[in-house]
Amino acid sequence: VTKLNRQILLAKRPLGLPEISDFQLVEAPSFDIHDGEVLIQTIALSVDPYMRWRMGGPEMHSEPFELNNVISGGGIGKIIESKNPNIPTDCFVTGQLGWADYNVSDGTGLRMVDPKNAPIESALSVLGMTGLTAYFGLLDIGKPMPGETVVVSGAAGAVGTVVGQIAKIKGCRVVGIAGSEHKAQYLKEKLGFDAVINYKSEGVYESLKKACPDGIDIYFDNVGGEVSDAVMYLINTYARIIMCGQISEYNQKTPSMGPRLQKYLIYNQALMQGFRIRQYSDRFNEGFEQLGQWVRDGKLTYRHSIVDGLENAPKAFIGLFSGQNLGKQIVKVSEE
Ligand SMILES: NC(=O)c1ccc[n+]([C@@H]2O[C@H](COP(=O)([O-])OP(=O)(O)OC[C@H]3O[C@@H](n4cnc5c(N)ncnc54)[C@H](OP(=O)(O)O)[C@@H]3O)[C@@H](O)[C@H]2O)c1
Repeated sequence: VTKLNRQILLAKRPLGLPEISDFQLVEAPSFDIHDGEVLIQTIALSVDPYMRWRMGGPEMHSEPFELNNVISGGGIGKIIESKNPNIPTDCFVTGQLGWADYNVSDGTGLRMVDPKNAPIESALSVLGMTGLTAYFGLLDIGKPMPGETVVVSGAAGAVGTVVGQIAKIKGCRVVGIAGSEHKAQYLKEKLGFDAVINYKSEGVYESLKKACPDGIDIYFDNVGGEVSDAVMYLINTYARIIMCGQISEYNQKTPSMGPRLQKYLIYNQALMQGFRIRQYSDRFNEGFEQLGQWVRDGKLTYRHSIVDGLENAPKAFIGLFSGQNLGKQIVKVSEE
């Protein structure tokens, strides 16, 4: 049966903050599938800050989105037709999906999702790349010890909420930095953060100094910019600085200048290390098992901000840059 397949294309490379007009919704017939392939109905899509790099073209990313092609990213779908003996009809899968109602796949890179374990959307958040990013970044690079002080920026976002909770599980004092009172309240009351700084209404350096009387042992950086500059003045000897993301810079047309902070690394014999989650791919199972266990034990919780409708994926994506989301931003495309 031929179904109408709505797709979202990248119509223009964004300049600065992406605009709705950089995207285009088109309708095409869905494809026929061949031997070895499956037809996937999209249920939910992930929108992620790094996609901004891929939209920027080859200067910004080694695998840029092509102009006038379907945008793709993490997603969850249901197999509605299968000519692949390993992937039965009606099961749920997660992997790279186009921003479209339907996708055809030969199964490469798809992972089965068991809807009995947790709401399937959590395969895009705590039990997906988001959770793994928090897990490996914090534990492998940060190596938190009980009693240490961990600061996380972008604290109320997808990765940040998981980082803070894992740091609490590891017995650390956790201080978050986020962009609203509502977010600060959620992190303290629901996730047990010891303190949260609202970087939009407080001086980050002064507030951090109060919130971290013993200095900062670990900084998990999701945002960069002036927020991160303030953290660097307060790091302890042997601090670990985990460079996960720099969202404050992704829309900049020219690089921003800041204080030169390298000397703080020297004085404090501190480590600053960047990582990309894909480098841990051979250890993903370890991460999935531990995250799943913590979720089942009630030690790790999650929050999804849901925007309804494929047509609203661009809006949901753009909203990341003004902090519209609490927890993981997800676009719901169809019902299970
Ligand atoms: N290294 C890796 O492999 C890897 C993997 C996944 C994600 N990441 C990175 O991790 C970071 C978080 O990703 P995510 O998926 O969890 O997104 P997210 O934190 O759920 O969403 C982005 C959040 O960033 C904050 N933000 C936006 N603009 C900001 C600015 N100019 N200054 C400070 N904060 C700003 C907003 O919250 P507020 O309301 O608090 O401003 C917003 O909610 C991103 O930088 C992303 O690129 C890296």
